[in-house]
Amino acid sequence: MAHVLYTNSGSESVETALKVALAYQRVKGQGSRTRLIGRERGYHGVNFGGISVGGIVTNRKMFGTLLTGVDHMPHTHLPAKNAFSKGMPEHGGDLADELERIVTLHDASTIAAVIVEPVAGSTGVLIPPKGYLQRLREICTKHGILLIFDEVITGFGRLGAPFAAQYFDVKPDIITTAKGLTNGVIPMGAVFVTSEIHDAFMTGPEHLIEFFHGYTYSGNPIASAAALGTLDTYREEGLLTRAAELAPYWEEKLHSLADCPNVVDIRNIGLIGAIELAPIAGEPTKRAFNAFLKAYESGLLIRTTGDIIALSPPLIITKAEIDELFDKLRKVLVANI
Ligand SMILES: Cc1ncc(COP(=O)(O)O)c(C=O)c1O
Repeated sequence: MAHVLYTNSGSESVETALKVALAYQRVKGQGSRTRLIGRERGYHGVNFGGISVGGIVTNRKMFGTLLTGVDHMPHTHLPAKNAFSKGMPEHGGDLADELERIVTLHDASTIAAVIVEPVAGSTGVLIPPKGYLQRLREICTKHGILLIFDEVITGFGRLGAPFAAQYFDVKPDIITTAKGLTNGVIPMGAVFVTSEIHDAFMTGPEHLIEFFHGYTYSGNPIASAAALGTLDTYREEGLLTRAAELAPYWEEKLHSLADCPNVVDIRNIGLIGAIELAPIAGEPTKRAFNAFLKAYESGLLIRTTGDIIALSPPLIITKAEIDELFDKLRKVLVANI
């Protein structure tokens, strides 16, 4: 993936990737491929393309009919079968076959691309079941559909490999990134495409623009300097693979909270974890919000989504800090929230 388009956020990376996919199909003489397939509970930022292929209802329902020609695969969260899985869950790999059903419904000749987060983050950490991503790749390849991995969260070392594509050994056609590219402190995103996609646009003549898409601040010099500095630090401190070293300790400590009250699921991969809580009857999301407030009072910042606590600590976290994090979280969970 030697070719990169620069953006200023994850949301812009997603829009860029979707437009590249549509334009690529067209320059390849496949202009009837205009459909985009996302997934229920997917999060791809807040712009129109992203919320159209995304699957989080609160992000969609206020904004009209969104993009046309979008369909969604089912999400892969199967708590009845997979609760308290460590790493990739056993059940649900066959849900990738739902893509075949969608292809049968619309015909492959109308579908440009499929977009998924390799590990769904914002919806509350949904880890791909064993075999799921491989199967998506196979189906996309078979039908000439581009596979886009939205790696805005998983990119740059979160799982213990530089990218989720490497971690899962599944090669997408396009990768979207942001966040970790500049350590999240200066806005910047990047979209990686294969040479095959890049070259399809490079048909000349030389003086003409090949792809009419770009932002004033694409490749902004300050953001580029921040990205280069961040990449140097990743290299010097081995941070793109550090999560792999910490993952077993992280997993053990996270799952040690399984005996806390109201915990209905714990799941993890790399340096990501989630604790799912039983909702308070009639007041969904309140228990997790209470946990958020209590954690904050104790000096611990957690992120909640629905009744799920999602954990994604800095890649420089130490074992002592992991201990501190989970000690504080245990106190929060055993308090009457
Ligand atoms: C998978 C994914 N895609 C896209 C985005 C949007 O990124 P941004 O908030 O930088 O627009 C996010 C943000 O959390 C994300 O997790």
